[in-house]
Formats: sequence, structure tokens, C-alpha cells
Amino acid sequence: MRVGILTSGGDCQALNATMRGLALTLYRNVKDVEIIGFIDGYKGLMYEKYKKMKPKDFYDILNVGGSILGNSRCPFKRMRIIENGFDKVKAMKNTYKKLELDCLVVLGGNGSIKSANMLSQEGLNVIALPKTIDNDAWGTDYTFGYSSATAIATRYLDEIKTTAASHSRVFVIEVMGHKVGHICLSAGIAAGADVILLPEIPYDIKVVAKKVKETLKNEKNYAIIACAEGAISEADALMKRKDYKAKVLARNGRSVAYEVADELSQEIDAEIRVSCIGHAQRGGNPNSYDREISTRFGVEGARLIIKKHYGEYVVLQGNHVTHIPLEATAGKLKYVDTEGEIVQSAKLVGISFGE
Ligand code: F6P
Repeated sequence: MRVGILTSGGDCQALNATMRGLALTLYRNVKDVEIIGFIDGYKGLMYEKYKKMKPKDFYDILNVGGSILGNSRCPFKRMRIIENGFDKVKAMKNTYKKLELDCLVVLGGNGSIKSANMLSQEGLNVIALPKTIDNDAWGTDYTFGYSSATAIATRYLDEIKTTAASHSRVFVIEVMGHKVGHICLSAGIAAGADVILLPEIPYDIKVVAKKVKETLKNEKNYAIIACAEGAISEADALMKRKDYKAKVLARNGRSVAYEVADELSQEIDAEIRVSCIGHAQRGGNPNSYDREISTRFGVEGARLIIKKHYGEYVVLQGNHVTHIPLEATAGKLKYVDTEGEIVQSAKLVGISFGE
């Protein structure tokens, strides 16, 4: 049996741990299995850049962040576009056939899963595993990387609190999450933020300012605003998509956190600082939960391969690792449930969402 594997899109903690879970299960349970590792995600499959893996490549990588295969972004929307005469889909199918693969395993987030589904519909045997720090993959309670990223964001918010207190400042801290706010919501609650701004709940700066003023008056001499990368004001949420995109472009790389700080400075009389956590959230080693869950995801991927049950996406549902058809999840995002228990509990404990 010959299995290809690739790590697609942005990296995260536990990519290696997931590959290890899958590889060790296959090596132990299938006679004559060969694993081909594609370099830098789908690019490796397109341009025939790969290495023949050995069992020892997978030993001792359980707690190592990043990917031993490398990552790259190959946007789904460009997959079918012929560029400089190069047909990407055709090239990937050719590599798969040339290497006589029995199956391709894709570790990826939403865009990568859409490409995996496309390849499955093109006739390749594909299994996908739920990667992304954003935890926005539909059909699974958790994606690997999310727990580690959230722990880093929580620690960062905690650390800012001491300097914020010393200087009596208000901090707007940017947390990753363009389209969904799971990391920001979870880390914001865990670190006791005063305000959490999410893409799913447009904010009114006057409401944010009121909460900050109340916090400074009644609770403490500083305030923490956890602001997701994709946080959006009520006014901006009403804009046409293309006008909003133009506005974001005009920010010239300056993120929404700076806009929140600028707007807030018109409303309150306090020193305001912005701090962005950035890619540290994807860095470092996986925490214990990510190591455990990714091992279980990898094992389930191997089970599917052994059963030749292809076209499936490995998921966690109610602390049970299982699988759903790839086509059921491809193209769907799992947003924060704005009416759900997590947001409601956050509100009850006094956190404002600026609405
Ligand atoms: O999808 C994971 C993620 O880290 C998002 O949270 C973030 O918006 C994006 O990737 C950053 O992408 P890049 O690494 O390409 O800058």
C-alpha cells in the first residue's frame, strides 16, 4: 500500500503529532506500507516534490510544532485556474497516478478541505484531517492546533494585564481569527478580558467605551479588550462587501485593533495601547490536549485507510473521534454561536461584546 500525505495551508501545532498517529498505526497494522510525504502542501503534489518517508521520520515528533513536510497556501479559488499554461488539478492527478498512490491524506483547514473534496470528486482516494488553530471547521467540535493557540493567546492576555495595571492603560489586543472568533472568545474568557470583539458580533464603539469607563471606575485601573482580527463595527457590517474590502485594503496593513483604539480614544480619557499576538499563536509545541486529540485523529485516518473507506473527513463529536463525508463539510465554516451557552456565560460574568 502506498499512501501520500501533505500538510496544507497555514501551519499549526500538532501537524507532526497527527502524522505520527497515522503513520505509526499504518506501519504497525499494514504489511508493506510506504508513505510518501509531499513537500509544502499541495505544491509538492503539483510539482512532484516529495520524499519517501521512513518509520524513524515519525518517531519523536509528537511534541514538535510546525510540519516536518512544510506548508504553503494554495487557495482553493485558484486551483482550477490555468497559470502560465500549468494545469494544477491535472498535475496533482498525474503525480498521484505516477506514484501509484492508494490514498492521499490531507491535513488542512477549510480551503484545503475544499481542494481535498475536489480531488476526491476527481476520482482520487482522499482522507482529510481537521487542522487549524481557528477551530472553524464545520462538523467537528475541535480541530488540532486550536487548544495550543488558545493557550498561547490566553497567556499573552494574562501577561499584558500586569503592564496594563502598572501604567493604568487600556489595551486592545489582537487575536487571530479573520472570519470566526473562537480563539478570541475562548482566550478572552480564560484571561478575564473586559471586552471581547468578534467577527460574528458587530460592535458599537460607544458601547465598548461605556464598558471600559465602567471598568475603570468600578473595578480596576486598567481594561483589556480582546479583539479578533476580523472584528467589525456595526457600521462596517452594513457596508457592501466590496466597499468593506476596499476599506480594509486602505488600512494599509494596519489591523482593526488600531481602528478600535483610534475610535476609543475619541470616547474615553485614558492611555490606550495596541498589541498584536500574531503568528506566535501558531508557533511552539502542541499542548497535551492537542497531542492527544491529534494522535486520535491520526489513528482514525489510518483506520479509514485500512478499511479503504475514502472520501471521508475525520472529526471529533462529543469527545468521540469519528468521520463524516468530505462533501458534507467542504465549504462550510463553523461560526461562534452568538446565542449559545459560551457567549451567554461570558455576558453573565460581565464581559461586553460591544453590542
Ligand atoms: O488560518 C489560520 C490563521 O492563522 C488565521 O487565524 C489567520 O488569519 C491566518 O491564518 C494568517 O495567515 P498567514 O499565515 O498566511 O499570514
